[in-house]
Amino acid sequence: MSMKLMLVVPFIMMFLLGSASTGNVLVWPYDYSHWMHMKSVIHELTARGHRVTVVMASSYQAAESSESSNFHVEVIPVPFTRKEMEMLTQDALYLWSYETHKIPFWDSFIKIYSHLMKMQSKYKSFCDNVFWNEKLLQKLESAAFDVLISDGVMPGGELLAEKLRVPFLYSLRLTPGNTMERICGHVPAPSSYVPTGLVGLTDRMSFMERTANMLTYLSLDIMFHHFFNKDWDQYFSDVLGKPTTLCEIMGKAEIWLIRTYWDFEFPRPLLPNFEYVGGLHCQPAKPLPKEMEEFVQSSGEHGIVVFSLGTMIQNLTDEKGNLVALAFSRLPQKVVWRYKGKRPETLGTNTRIYDWIPQNDLLGHPKTKAFITHGGTNGIYEAIYHGIPMIGIPMFGDQSDNIAHVCAKGMAIELNINTMTAQDLVDAVNTIIHNTTYKENAVRLSQIHHDQPMKPLDRAVFWIEFVMRHKGAKHLRVAAHDLTWYQYHCLDVIAFLISCVALFMFIMVKCCSFCCRKCGITRKTKIE
Ligand SMILES: *[C@@H]1O[C@H](CO)[C@@H](O)[C@H](O)[C@H]1NC(C)=O
Ligand SMILES: *[C@@H]1O[C@H](CO)[C@@H](O)[C@H](O)[C@H]1NC(C)=O
Repeated sequence: MSMKLMLVVPFIMMFLLGSASTGNVLVWPYDYSHWMHMKSVIHELTARGHRVTVVMASSYQAAESSESSNFHVEVIPVPFTRKEMEMLTQDALYLWSYETHKIPFWDSFIKIYSHLMKMQSKYKSFCDNVFWNEKLLQKLESAAFDVLISDGVMPGGELLAEKLRVPFLYSLRLTPGNTMERICGHVPAPSSYVPTGLVGLTDRMSFMERTANMLTYLSLDIMFHHFFNKDWDQYFSDVLGKPTTLCEIMGKAEIWLIRTYWDFEFPRPLLPNFEYVGGLHCQPAKPLPKEMEEFVQSSGEHGIVVFSLGTMIQNLTDEKGNLVALAFSRLPQKVVWRYKGKRPETLGTNTRIYDWIPQNDLLGHPKTKAFITHGGTNGIYEAIYHGIPMIGIPMFGDQSDNIAHVCAKGMAIELNINTMTAQDLVDAVNTIIHNTTYKENAVRLSQIHHDQPMKPLDRAVFWIEFVMRHKGAKHLRVAAHDLTWYQYHCLDVIAFLISCVALFMFIMVKCCSFCCRKCGITRKTKIE
């Protein structure tokens, strides 16, 4: 072969392989910040030439803004509007954020539970419109998808994958107490040093904390197995036309892409099909809009503080809004506040309110000193990425757990929205900025985050493409999936070993007593 040809062949090969390996991807996302995370993955997939189809309900906030994109959106009409869904969500958040601390635990539990059930019934009617729509299913089937990516926070994606016989991956932060990861994905979680992630524990637990942790695991397992999942078990069985369970189908996931990483997690055992891809949406900061840049620059040496409670919390109560604004007015820093509510009366001249902020770009700005956040995973990762210390004001969901992690890592301070005063907030901001420990820890975590063999987004896409190329990742599937619960915990083996020991002891005792009797008899006869 001539030298020239030898040089050209690899390129041709690469071209052929490259074009042959683009595929057809189906995505089952969830709304709000979940969608923002998923969009990063979708953009990367389309940039690499894959065709992407997204299934979402017409009531999703995400359905509003996704039309003119480079992927196809299959909007499923549902008999309720985006506005109604938004009201329901806001009510639930209000209840969770402000009401629950005023009433006894069980009352608040029942209230939140019934609210979540209301939302779930809406979600189920979206599923109905997918799974009982033969025309849609046929259309999806004929599209011959290579892989499905499902947001694991709500069931449905795995069911569609099973129905279409397509391998699937999860993209997930966590289910409550990691319950589904543990009981359906079989990821090991020793209760002695892996906290449930619901009660704000860390990996170093006292005796009482370990007791609480173990009891939480047990009660969650019982609750999920016997209550929460029952409806879905029936639903899945009906759709697939054979008896099955939610957990059985979830357990078929080829890969679980978890939206965190070791910078944030406590060290723990994982399975080979669990990948940490946290922070995949983060990017180097881009320049700010001109007006905002001028405001930020006007802060001088004091720098700025960024405050956002995320996409779901749009406004605070008047009382809280005034409290926060008052606290900000006492700071020497300038404050950029993302807020859609009423303009507080106590708003200082150093604070500017915006409907929307380029959060990642602001956190990456050299003038930014601190980030005040509700503790959503996306925001926390942007802060880790840029090494910015945080003040966490958790509102609902996994947020208090997220904040517990970053507090334990020494890059955050936690405040309680219901009990904090304006002075608490001022003190917290001063501590975060002037006690250098927090900044140092933030920078250290940031360095850990950036020092990976492969970027999180590349790793996520690698595994998606891997599943497409190999039609799954069965070689990573632990055999635990094929064991019963007593086999998994070796209860049958333990029972067998105990019986052996018992049998052995029994024989020994019998022999001894037999010998003794013999000896006794001979001795007796000798004496006689
Ligand atoms: C937020 O604003 C909406 C409408 O403007 C209002 O109905 C709701 O009560 C407000 N929420 C809070 C927490 O004040
Ligand atoms: C800074 O914060 C750390 C962690 O909370 C604390 O241990 C340390 O004493 C603080 N340093 C000062 C000078 O206050």
